[in-house]
Amino acid sequence: MNVPKSVAIIMDGNGRWAKAKGMPRTYGHVQGAKVVEQICEDAYNLGIEYLTVYAFSTENWSRPSDEVEALMKLLRDYMKNCIKRASKNNMCVRVIGDKSRLDKDIQKSIADLEEATKDNTGLHFTIAINYGGRDEIRRAACKIAKKVKDGELKEEDITIESFEKELDTFGLKDPDLLIRTCGELRISNFLLWQCSYSEIYITDVAWPDFNKDELIKACEAYSNRTRKFGNVL
Ligand code: FPP
Repeated sequence: MNVPKSVAIIMDGNGRWAKAKGMPRTYGHVQGAKVVEQICEDAYNLGIEYLTVYAFSTENWSRPSDEVEALMKLLRDYMKNCIKRASKNNMCVRVIGDKSRLDKDIQKSIADLEEATKDNTGLHFTIAINYGGRDEIRRAACKIAKKVKDGELKEEDITIESFEKELDTFGLKDPDLLIRTCGELRISNFLLWQCSYSEIYITDVAWPDFNKDELIKACEAYSNRTRKFGNVL
C-alpha cells in the first residue's frame, strides 16, 4: 500500500455521536480526545509522518459557552499531559492557529510542549486551535505587507515559496490526504492553502468511533487513487 506521508483530519461528529447515545455533546468531545491519542500511535505505525488535526476553529467560539469551555478544558489538559506521551512516542508536536486569543496558561503549555518535543524525530503531530485557513492566510499577508513596508522584501519577491514561509504550517508537508469523519462534504476553512492538491476521503463514521481499521481504509482508498496536480497524465 502507498501510505500517505502527510494526513490531515477534520474530526467531525462528536456532538451527533453523543446525542445518539443520549449524552451531552461534551461527552463526544471527551471520547474524541481519547481517539486522537490512539490515532497518533496508529498513524505512525502505519508509516504516516505528518498528522494534522482540526481541534478548534476560528468559528467555534460562537458555540454555546459551556461547550467552548469544555473544549478549552480538554485542550488545556491535553497540552499538559502530552509532554510525557510525546517524549515516550518521540512525537514532535506543534500547534497552528492564532494562539493569542487563548488563555495565557494554555499558551504557556503550548510553548512548553513545542519546546520539549521540537527535536523529536517521530510523528510530526500538529493541532489546529483557533485556526481558520482564511485567518492564517490573512495573518501571512499582514506579515508580508510589513516586510515590504520595512524594505525587507520587494513586491517582486512575493512568490508562492516566500508566502508559504509566513504560514503557520511552514516546515510541514502539505497533506497528501484529507480525511473528514461523519459524512459532511465540506473543507470548513481547514488548511485552505495546503490542501490545494490533497486527495479527499469522507467517511460516515463519527470521530469517536474512528479507529485504526478506519484509518487503514482511508489509506487504502488513497493508495488506489492516481494523484494529479493540474498536469496531464
Ligand atoms: C467537531 O464535532 C469536533 C470539534 C469541533 C472538536 C474536535 C475536538 C476534539 C476531537 C477533542 C479535543 C482535541 C484534542 C487534540 C485533544 P462537532 O461537535 O461539530 O460534531 P457535530 O457535527 O456532530 O455537532
